[in-house]
Amino acid sequence: MKPIKIGLIGLGNAGSQLARALHRKHLGLHAVFTRDEQKASSIGRRMRIFYTHDLSAIPKGLDLYILAVSDSAITEVAAQLAKVIGDANVVHISGAASSKTLAPFFKSYGVFYPLQTLTKGRKIKFKEIPICIEANNEPLKSMLLDLARGLSEKVYFINDEERAWLHVTAVMVNNFTNHLYSLAEKITNDKDLSFDLLRPLILETASKVQKMDPKDAQTGPAARGDQKTIEAHMEKLEQYPDILKVYEVLTKSLEK
Ligand SMILES: NC(=O)c1ccc[n+]([C@@H]2O[C@H](COP(=O)([O-])OP(=O)(O)OC[C@H]3O[C@@H](n4cnc5c(N)ncnc54)[C@H](OP(=O)(O)O)[C@@H]3O)[C@@H](O)[C@H]2O)c1
Repeated sequence: MKPIKIGLIGLGNAGSQLARALHRKHLGLHAVFTRDEQKASSIGRRMRIFYTHDLSAIPKGLDLYILAVSDSAITEVAAQLAKVIGDANVVHISGAASSKTLAPFFKSYGVFYPLQTLTKGRKIKFKEIPICIEANNEPLKSMLLDLARGLSEKVYFINDEERAWLHVTAVMVNNFTNHLYSLAEKITNDKDLSFDLLRPLILETASKVQKMDPKDAQTGPAARGDQKTIEAHMEKLEQYPDILKVYEVLTKSLEK
């Protein structure tokens, strides 16, 4: 891969994980920006790269700028960045935002979306994360392809429309299931049961779908048509009206 220089804007959950992976793989992380002065200097010093908490100080002329800021801040930060760097290759890393969000500010733009739940400080294997790339021109596409291949064994060209659908499904399998864990934890806490009792079940359910079709992996009262058990659960859940609603919606969907 031709050596490139990368500027990374934003060091939140995703940005800090990406910074770590780029740095460890020597993929050209050259400068980082975050509004938090301490965070900028701590990461910048550790990686011995340029760091700043002032966006106007970000170096011009780098090969690629990666926006790892909240989806709602992409437009605002892109507008500020364009004033500093002029025209350049710029991508964001969002699953939800269109690549065209960047079109008003840059001629060459794209998306570099790591399809994984990223949390600051967690050790993750970036090489196993699918990276979904898109670019509005061939040279940038090829640069992103090289970069993604340097980070991961799973690289895909996914356009805006496909990524928007992918993001819907990512929310379903990740955020919704995790929300169900939280609801279950509320009940186990209230009833003096340990949530630890459920952890092996959570793991096996996630592990099964790695090899099986989710439909075939489904067990439980709704899949069995066990109406008595469902009614007993719903009676118990009357003391948790919000959780009862979720239980009813999911049971109906499962029965279909
Ligand atoms: N976390 C994930 O699982 C994940 C996975 C794939 C893709 N993504 C994408 O990664 C991007 C960042 O998400 P995240 O989860 O890392 O969010 P996050 O942890 O909340 O971090 C958000 C980052 O955005 C910066 N920011 C917010 N508003 C800003 C503004 N007005 N000006 C400058 N910087 C601003 C914050 O800067 P400060 O540090 O200065 O406050 C912070 O670095 C999003 O596009 C998201 O869709 C996230």
